Amino acid sequence: MGPQPRSRPPLWQASVPLIIGVFGAGLVAFSLILPTTPTLSAPVAAKATITAPAPAEVSKQAPPSPLPEPPPPPQEPIDCSKVPCVALTFDDGPSPNSAGLLDQLRALGVKATFFNTGQNVVNHPDQVKRQVDDGHVVAGHSWNHTDMRKQKPGKACDDAARTAEAIRNASGVETILVRPPYGGWNQTVLSACQGMTFILWNVDTLDWSTHDAAKITDHALNDSKPGSIILMHDTVPETVDALPGVVAGLRDLGYALVTVPELWTSPITPGQAIYSGPHP
Ligand code: NI
Repeated sequence: MGPQPRSRPPLWQASVPLIIGVFGAGLVAFSLILPTTPTLSAPVAAKATITAPAPAEVSKQAPPSPLPEPPPPPQEPIDCSKVPCVALTFDDGPSPNSAGLLDQLRALGVKATFFNTGQNVVNHPDQVKRQVDDGHVVAGHSWNHTDMRKQKPGKACDDAARTAEAIRNASGVETILVRPPYGGWNQTVLSACQGMTFILWNVDTLDWSTHDAAKITDHALNDSKPGSIILMHDTVPETVDALPGVVAGLRDLGYALVTVPELWTSPITPGQAIYSGPHP
């Protein structure tokens, strides 16, 4: 028997490899496309989802900008010709204590008068602005705390005018009020400083000397009379400590706490040297 003639495979059998080949190639191509399509689209989609809500996220998560505290409510006008008043005054600032002092005054609802030196005004203009914004009165205390009696009158007054200009630049407020350093003035200096009025004091808390909150409080409460102008210092930390006791004590004694100009019912005129206000 010779070898069986090889029968020809049917057509469908012959095309199996072709079908498998085409199918396989298709699979390969498909598998190449499949992973690439999601990989390509995924980052795009991911990127889109990250970037699209980003502005909202940022604005949501940004720390709330500190809102400026509302200005203190306007005080009832006080008529110091009818009720006993005293004026708290603070010299030599602005200083590193100023923010704490202003916070205390705000918390206590007290308006005061600040006698600032020109050199400190230009160093801390923001504190001068806050003094004004908080409703206090700002005035000058020479440029660099020189005794005006030891300067030529023209120079002393130029320094006072420069200080007033610095206060105006920092706060927008004009002042004619000057507190001569050390309380040192004479008629020659006053006459030379035309358009200005000198504001002295009749109660010295001696805060600059004792640095003792209890003694500061004792002086303020024991030495005050209606119309008193009370001397304290922006630069003394113990003064800030003493303030709540001073304010509560003066109020217990029946005093209204006002600014220096409020001691009078009419505006202060230039050319005076004043130690205290009028009293009822
Ligand atoms: Ni002083």
